[in-house]
Amino acid sequence: MKTLRTIKQVSEYAGEQVWIGCWLNGKRSSGKIQFLQLRDGTGYIQGVLVKSEVSEAAWESAQQLTQESSLYVRGTVREEPRSPSGYELLVEEVEIIQLTEDYPITPKEHGVDYLMDRRHLWLRTPKQRAILVIRAQIIRAIQQFFDERDFTLVDPPILTPSSCEGTTNLFHTKYFDDDAYLTQSGQLYMEAAAMALGKVYSFGPTFRAEKSKTRRHLIEFWMIEPEMAFVDLEESLRIQEQFVSHVIQSVLTHCRKELETIGRDISKLEAIQAPFPRMTYDDAIKLLQENGFDVPWGEDFGAPHETAIAEKFDRPVFITHYPASIKAFYMKPDPGRLEVVLCADMIAPEGYGEIIGGSQRIDDPQLLAERFGEHELSEEAYQWYLDLRRYGTVPHSGFGLGLERTVAWICGLDHVRETIPFPRLLHRLYP
Ligand code: 4AD
Ligand code: MG
Repeated sequence: MKTLRTIKQVSEYAGEQVWIGCWLNGKRSSGKIQFLQLRDGTGYIQGVLVKSEVSEAAWESAQQLTQESSLYVRGTVREEPRSPSGYELLVEEVEIIQLTEDYPITPKEHGVDYLMDRRHLWLRTPKQRAILVIRAQIIRAIQQFFDERDFTLVDPPILTPSSCEGTTNLFHTKYFDDDAYLTQSGQLYMEAAAMALGKVYSFGPTFRAEKSKTRRHLIEFWMIEPEMAFVDLEESLRIQEQFVSHVIQSVLTHCRKELETIGRDISKLEAIQAPFPRMTYDDAIKLLQENGFDVPWGEDFGAPHETAIAEKFDRPVFITHYPASIKAFYMKPDPGRLEVVLCADMIAPEGYGEIIGGSQRIDDPQLLAERFGEHELSEEAYQWYLDLRRYGTVPHSGFGLGLERTVAWICGLDHVRETIPFPRLLHRLYP
């Protein structure tokens, strides 16, 4: 077997001969010189063959290559200042693995449905690759942030007997003879974990049977959910703004090239530094009414409302103290004003909407028990959750960041469908 180098590694081999395993992205030829655009997943490099300098076999193999053919090439790494990577490969030998015929994704424009049906191939294009690299860096930065601050990673279950975020979009399945639901949020379990470990976070898939078709909603999405004992809403907000700033700065440090590939306006991301502005729900309502929206106090915000508010700021904004009636059962009422809760949504700039939902949790057992009745939830199913308030209850807070909306914002994408390798959307389960 050949010793292969990756395209990412070639800078370490300037002037030397290497073998690379790759695919043909495209090619052009002048008759005397062939230029091969090669990709191996780690990057792109141009392979150059000069007819008068290579064997006939190498020249002819290169001529046969079609888009997405797989091959090994041997060549000498040469510095080339005009190339985006700074290097090119002077090809001496071409070993074809497979000649691809009729590759369905060509450099011309394709419609979104066409591409979504071929998502497994669409991933090979430079933009989709760049998005997945940035997604991986975001995940790395998230884990780094919490690991460095002594949070313990805890995995909540995926199959659950009850709901966390209301019953309207529960994803139902059977659990032998019983009913079960795919988790909407690991939060309730993370509260149990916080009482055992202090500061915890989860990172996993969550499911919502969203019947609406929007550019912000997925059926299956990934959430980061920190939960913290002895932390109030105010401290939670400080952690959230530090956290999101850290993620952005980390992507700016490690993914410059990928941000350029997708054409992101980097100056907009550079502005994202803590602290973030805050606004109460009351003030948000006022601001919306002043801007011509007919939205009464007590109503939840939709995408146009969030966008109108976000437009006033160059960084994410917290909207705090929503009416209890439009928020989840577990949120703690503001002791000075019981009709609002100690919660905050973080709204991203540029119209990307809510990326974080969080709150201080009810710590009083009596009040929590009353909430089950008001929200028509069976108290029986939540006895274990009530135990957390019966046995050593403490003030605690937590939040959930939606990974795909965060990726959409950082990458400046029109739709969340490109932020996850294989999106699950209303009416789309294939591939
Ligand atoms: O605001 P949500 O519903 O909050 C919770 O689930 C809390 N239990 C979290 C917690 O406090 N531990 O969802 C949190 C975030 C949203 O802000 C949004 O970014 C994302 O999850 N999200 C979705 N992302 C994509 N598609 C969907 N259908 C989403 N629903 C929520
Ligand atoms: Mg929310």
